[in-house]
Amino acid sequence: MKKTAWISTMATSVALMSVLTGCGAPSSDNRTSSTGATPSAGGPTLVLATSADYKPYEFHDTSSGQDKIVGFDMDVANAIAKQLHFNIKVEDMDFDGLIGALQSGRADFVIAGMTPTAERKKSVDFSDVYYQATNIVLTKKGHAVKSLDDLKGETVAAQLGSVQETAAKAIPGVKVESLNTIPNVVQEVVTNRAQAAVIEDTVAKGYVQNNPSLQINEIPGVKSNGSAIAFPKGSKWVSKFNTAIEKMKQDGELQQLADKWFSGQK
Ligand code: ARG
Repeated sequence: MKKTAWISTMATSVALMSVLTGCGAPSSDNRTSSTGATPSAGGPTLVLATSADYKPYEFHDTSSGQDKIVGFDMDVANAIAKQLHFNIKVEDMDFDGLIGALQSGRADFVIAGMTPTAERKKSVDFSDVYYQATNIVLTKKGHAVKSLDDLKGETVAAQLGSVQETAAKAIPGVKVESLNTIPNVVQEVVTNRAQAAVIEDTVAKGYVQNNPSLQINEIPGVKSNGSAIAFPKGSKWVSKFNTAIEKMKQDGELQQLADKWFSGQK
């Protein structure tokens, strides 16, 4: 019963996505650009847009003293670039500005743990799915959520423009708080401004490991999200990327990268 409720709410609320992501407006607080690619002599340079607030998919690593955007997605993109002989220039922006960046030609592709929803497919093209994850409900320890009904009357945080925001909005009787970045979403729960957040399991696990006051609630039947690379409509790169992704699936490179970034998680 609950299971069905979650799945159908996920499906029926997909229409919301056009409102949330289809406007193409650049977000007001775009973050700084940074380059993060191994140069490939002679090839074209493609602009990769991402929202580097999504560890372990993409995040800022300053441990070397330099600000670098790293993560699973960056390794996948670099491996594809190596196969197809192009260079990458990384643009970091808010998640809800990514589709607009493709539509306005400011980016050649988006790799951001992005789920290829039917609604987004109206605005952009997607590669094949390269990774699967599941949504969970993040709460403070001791606030167990066994079904979506347990959230009635509560404030639920989610990332602006994400499928998790759509899922949160479809939960009956909750107030949804939409924030630009995942650290901000988690912070709402940590500081009790929200009682729960809808986040991908792979991302939530890192926060829970570092903050013992948080807990992950797996809701049975929660829909899984695939990640795919997005392109401007009609981009000639889609089929080339698919060939490269397929090769990485076949020769185990994709699994190796998943083990590197998600090991101990799944
Ligand atoms: N998979 C979810 C979506 O496509 C969330 C992705 C968020 N990605 C990010 N880099 N913040 O809506």
